[in-house]
Amino acid sequence: MIQDAASTDAAAGPVPGFRHQLRTATQAQHLRTETAFAPFAAGMPERLTWFLAAQRAGLAALCESCDAPELASRGVIADLLLRLDADLARRGARHQGVAPAGPLDPLAVDYIVLGSRLGTEVMRRTLAGLLPPSEMPAYFAAPDVRPLWKAHCAALGRVGTGSPRAAAVIADAELGFELFQLAAGVQDTFAGRAA
Ligand code: HEM
Repeated sequence: MIQDAASTDAAAGPVPGFRHQLRTATQAQHLRTETAFAPFAAGMPERLTWFLAAQRAGLAALCESCDAPELASRGVIADLLLRLDADLARRGARHQGVAPAGPLDPLAVDYIVLGSRLGTEVMRRTLAGLLPPSEMPAYFAAPDVRPLWKAHCAALGRVGTGSPRAAAVIADAELGFELFQLAAGVQDTFAGRAA
């Protein structure tokens, strides 16, 4: 469901080069991740609790996989984890954690965290048409990350295509996607309450 590059690049600005290479190189992994979350995305609002638990587990594992001070999305992750914990507590649900990978390159972690908010915005719009405002999880009301995404795309643009750093970021982004696939697979709230 990732659309043409133009939509994400409209937010990112004209930054060709490694940013595009990363997107293309990880497209198959994104598709696998989308498939892992399809039980929620294709049947909203059912399995919302399961989705939130999987996001909680994936994000925590991603964060634990990178202690680099350059990680730009650490504050975003911390805020999202607080929101997800509150959402799960409200539903009387818990998440099943997954083990971290890595250490992962901070650019790869930023890519997963900030990029995934673009897809979340698409899901938020659908969900907002299905749930009353009081039922919308705090996870979907997190602050706009587009300024950070724009800065992140510029940072990706400074990585040389074909460089060792480029290879490391691609490989680590793939591992980041895998953490979310694992997280989707281990949650036991799948058959839990619908919303
Ligand atoms: C069912 C679940 C998902 C759906 C339907 C979905 C959908 C999307 C869509 C539509 C976009 C493009 C947004 C735009 O053009 O404005 C996008 C981008 C992205 N998503 Fe997802 N996504 C899902 C799950 C995930 C997950 C779990 C992750 C991370 C683990 C993720 C990582 C990304 C990244 C990194 C981008 C940016 C791609 C780029 O432009 O380079 N997505 N997603």
